Amino acid sequence: VFDKEKYTVVFVLGGPGSGKGTQCQNLVRDFGFVHLSAGDLLRAEQRRPGSEYGELINSCIKEGKIVPMEITIALLEKAMREDGGTRFLIDGFPRKMDQAVKFEEAVCESKSVLFFECPEEVMLTRLLHRGETSGRVDDNIESIRKRFKTFVEQSYPVVQYFEKQGKVKTVLCVDTPEKVYEKVKEIFRDIFKE
Ligand code: AP5
Repeated sequence: VFDKEKYTVVFVLGGPGSGKGTQCQNLVRDFGFVHLSAGDLLRAEQRRPGSEYGELINSCIKEGKIVPMEITIALLEKAMREDGGTRFLIDGFPRKMDQAVKFEEAVCESKSVLFFECPEEVMLTRLLHRGETSGRVDDNIESIRKRFKTFVEQSYPVVQYFEKQGKVKTVLCVDTPEKVYEKVKEIFRDIFKE
């Protein structure tokens, strides 16, 4: 059982290629958070020899589909316990309403939600560029289109859900990474001014 009071969790949400991972690295450096990316945890599990979920995860990622909640939440819980820290930036999660409800019920409530807003054409250009060297099975035009569709249909409603709770801080992400970070940093200073 998790001691919910012990943790400070910020969810970092945004479309594929909006810059979640890039900005989380900056936040880790300046604010002492631990960064957990749901996508990275799933890719590590997919590569783990003997994993019973390897094939399922690979096909979901390639198709831009959301991996079943039980797998993702179990990986996040395990990573939080193993790290031993108390301040987490959770990137790319929750991506679906059931994940949001279950995680906040069973693990911990989020303190705040950072949402990276970015036009699809900007994200598309970034991901196609990254795809030249990333080796990711989902950085190709077919997968990217599917990821966008999943984001709009299933993940954006999660942002709206948190918006109703007054938790969302939105950052427009079309600028350079440095300029975007200036805005992100300001938001974080404001949230954690204590
Ligand atoms: P995931 O790995 O989370 O991918 P994603 O959400 O599609 O986002 P990316 O990691 O591709 O992009 P990012 O926003 O982090 O941007 P980045 O900083 O890398 O998920 C992949 C898949 O895993 C999902 O489709 C799903 O199948 C599964 N999955 C993940 N989470 C799940 C969950 N919770 N439940 C179930 N399944 C889940 O930047 C992108 C590129 O742009 C980089 O090359 C970067 O250098 C560049 N860049 C960044 N910022 C800028 C900028 N300001 N200007 C110019 N270039 C920039």
